[in-house]
This record gives sequence, structure tokens and C-alpha cells, in this order.
Amino acid sequence: MSRVFAGLGIVSDAGWAKNLAPGGRVMLVSEPTAYRLFGRKVRAALKKVDVCVFLLPSGEKAKSWASVEKLLGAMLKSGLGRDSALIALGGGAVTDAAGFAASIYLRGIPWVSMPTTLLGQLDSGLGGKTGINLPEGKNLAGTFYQPAAVICDTDFLKTLPVRERVSGLAEAIKCGLTFDPALFGFIRTNWDALLAGNPAPTAHVVKVGAAWKMKIVAKDERETKGVRDFLNFGHTLGHALEKVAGFGVIRHGEAVIWGMRAALRLSVAHAGLPMAQAEEAEDFLAGIPVPEIKNLKFSALLSAASKDKKARRGRSRFVLLRAMGKPVIVSGIGPEAVLRALRSL
Ligand SMILES: NC(=O)c1ccc[n+]([C@@H]2O[C@H](COP(=O)([O-])OP(=O)(O)OC[C@H]3O[C@@H](n4cnc5c(N)ncnc54)[C@H](O)[C@@H]3O)[C@@H](O)[C@H]2O)c1
Ligand SMILES: [Zn+2]
Repeated sequence: MSRVFAGLGIVSDAGWAKNLAPGGRVMLVSEPTAYRLFGRKVRAALKKVDVCVFLLPSGEKAKSWASVEKLLGAMLKSGLGRDSALIALGGGAVTDAAGFAASIYLRGIPWVSMPTTLLGQLDSGLGGKTGINLPEGKNLAGTFYQPAAVICDTDFLKTLPVRERVSGLAEAIKCGLTFDPALFGFIRTNWDALLAGNPAPTAHVVKVGAAWKMKIVAKDERETKGVRDFLNFGHTLGHALEKVAGFGVIRHGEAVIWGMRAALRLSVAHAGLPMAQAEEAEDFLAGIPVPEIKNLKFSALLSAASKDKKARRGRSRFVLLRAMGKPVIVSGIGPEAVLRALRSL
């Protein structure tokens, strides 16, 4: 499992860079925004290493065969051997694509994940899932390839726009509702400070949220035992909503907020979640500013949800809560019940 370093300013602590690449050469992979903001700081932490830089395009364009092929070519041209390493500095798009390149270059070289978005530090930068999109859909090709280390420097998050913060915090809320009611309480109490990017509560949420993700991943590294499914509370309908609205229209975390609200209703009806607990969570979620989901075809949402990767034989499987912090997987919920939950939002 990867070592996770989380906290304010930890990228400047040379600890993580020691023994990274015995050959002394590192490929620093980033995208224009993250590199402009943090490239110099990362390079300063790598004083004794020969650093080559490769910039992927920003956003989902990074996650294509064409981008990865160019990156692999640049790695070869720079003479990176098996004793080299790759560092991925950026949001989930960069860590997914660069981690994928690290996993296949010369059959795999060590890599360090350095997520610069809140979503990245709580979710996409940890757990070893790497990959690219295919014309047929998102994340359809990839590998499980754990980074040697994950550096979640919360100092990186200061420059994030509020919408990206909300999107990332959705994953922390998910983690709180699914595993850790105290974390949910902390987020609720400190919400305004978290939205404003206040460093101390942000660092706390990243440390606790990242630790939860790693704990679950350690039990089910390759998503074969069902444990990792628990990370998907709010995601069956969240993913469906992202797909139907059109990727990029609604941020991943924003869609997950809608998905969690529907999942809370289904949890009351199908998993025994006490109404008072559902209402407490719903009151908070309903107050978070996210784009409206009006004018979307419910039939399209249901159809997308039934194709979710957790679905079996066309029947959706949902992560629901039997109580705050107590997840269960429930299958066989019919489309009418899902529709009722969606309509009531
Ligand atoms: N591997 C996994 O387990 C996993 C899990 C969830 C999501 N994902 C993937 O993650 C991707 C989304 O990641 P994301 O939300 O981080 O988006 P992203 O990587 O597209 O980054 C969003 C934007 O933020 C900018 N940015 C990055 N860091 C910044 C900073 N510190 N300050 C200001 N701007 C900054 C980037 O330039 C980009 O325009 C998707 O492709 C998704 O499929 C992967
Ligand atoms: Zn998610």
C-alpha cells in the first residue's frame, strides 16, 4: 500500500522524495495550471534528482490514448529506465493518465501521486486506480497500480475555485455518512470555513477522508471483494446524472450530492435508516449550492443507473445506509422506487 503524506506544506518535506528513483531521474507530469502554480515548489523538493517535465492537456483531454502515447514517447526520449520514477502533479485527470503511463512504461515504474484538487486528495489521487477514457465511455481502460507515495499537500488547495471545493467536499461528506458520523458532524460545523478554504479544517478533512479511503482500499485493492463498493454511496445515481447531463456540465461531486440525497430516501424505504437521521443529513445536503437537475429525463437516468458497474443483470445495486456510518449493499430495488426517490427531490 502507498504511504500517504497529508498536511499543510508537506511537499517541501524531503522525506517523501528520498530513495524515490535510484537512477536519479524523475519525470514530473502535470498540466499547465497545476504546473504554473506548484511546479517550482515540487522541483525545489527534488533538488538532488534530474527532473524532466511533461505537460498533459488540462481536464479530460489528458485521459486519452493520444496523450498517454506522447507521454510514453517523451519518457523514452528522456532515457527513463526502470530505476526512474514518475510524479503526477494535478487533479484526477492528471493522476489517472500519468499513473496509467507509469503502470505500463517498461512494464511499470514507481510513481508518486500528488493530487492538487480536493477531489484528488480525498479520492482520485489515492487507491491506485489509473486509466483513460475511450470513445465509448469514461475510464474504460486502465490498471490497478498503487503509487509508492501519495502527497496530499493541502497548501495546493488554496487556489481552487469554490465549485471545485464543493465537488471535493461531496466525497468527504460521502465518507462521513458512510463510515464516520463524527467526520460528517465536523464538516457540517465547519462548512463555511471549508468553503472559504480555511487551512486547518481543510487539512483535518483531507487527513481523515484520505485515511478512510486507504483503509477501504487496503481491504479490497482490486475491487473484487465488494468492500470497495462501499465507497460508492450516492454514486449509482450520481454517475447516471453526470452521464445524462453531459460530462463537464455538472461536476462529479455535485452529481454525487444529488445521488446521496436520493440514496438517503431509498435508505429509509429499503435499508431501515431512521427518518430522523435521514432528515438531518438531507437538511444539510439540500443547503449546498449545486446546479439544478430540472429538465432531465428520468427514464434516461434510470437507464444509465441500470448500466452502473455495480448493476447485475440490469437491476441496480445501491449502497444504502441502515444507520449513519453503517453502509449496506441493497439489490433488486425496482425502477418505480428509484423514480419515486428522484421525484421527491
Ligand atoms: N482514480 C480514481 O479512483 C478516480 C476517482 C474519482 C475520480 N477520478 C477521475 O478524476 C477526474 C476528475 O478529477 P478532478 O475533479 O480533480 O478534475 P481535473 O483533474 O480535471 O481538474 C479540474 C481543474 O482544476 C484545475 N486545477 C487543478 N489543481 C488546481 C489548483 N490547485 N488550483 C486551481 N485549479 C486547479 C485543473 O487545471 C483543471 O482545469 C475524472 O477524470 C475522474 O474520472 C478518478
Ligand atoms: Zn466520487
